[in-house]
Amino acid sequence: MTILTLCSENGIELGSWTDSAVIGEKLAAVGIDYQHLATRPLDDLSPEAVMACYQDAIANWQQQGGYQSVDVVSLQPDNPNAGELRRKFLDEHIHSEDEVRFFAAGSGIFYLHLNHHVYALTCTQGDFLSVPAGTRHWFDMGLEPYFVAVRLFTNPDGWVAQHTGDPVASNFIDAA
Ligand SMILES: [Fe+2]
Repeated sequence: MTILTLCSENGIELGSWTDSAVIGEKLAAVGIDYQHLATRPLDDLSPEAVMACYQDAIANWQQQGGYQSVDVVSLQPDNPNAGELRRKFLDEHIHSEDEVRFFAAGSGIFYLHLNHHVYALTCTQGDFLSVPAGTRHWFDMGLEPYFVAVRLFTNPDGWVAQHTGDPVASNFIDAA
């Protein structure tokens, strides 16, 4: 289930929402584009099937955001590099381009550090999120990561994390 939780910077919960329309409004108010596609889960989660199923939505997102390239990334809990991959995104960072994801399956938590608050969005199947370039954020795929996500890029080379050095994420993440 998709959940948006608003927290103080030191991790105190201030509010929580599960209705996708309300989540969209809350995030739009702070400049974040979130959408939910009410589609059935796919049986075939191959990149080709995911791209084919969501081709119209992907084309719209590409046009709206000027995203030149698209791919599908898949991570399974038994991936031997799961722990290393998880740690890679756990510290607060920014990118020089938007981080745009659509979850075709599985889940992951985006933490957006905005206006001295942290918006924690647990993304699940059907969720689209665009994190604008320069937004302080981090991502937790969990101890047993599982997701199949469409990624949209203006330039894949721009998606390199620049860490902020702010330890705020440690108030939210159990990195054990
Ligand atoms: Fe990121």
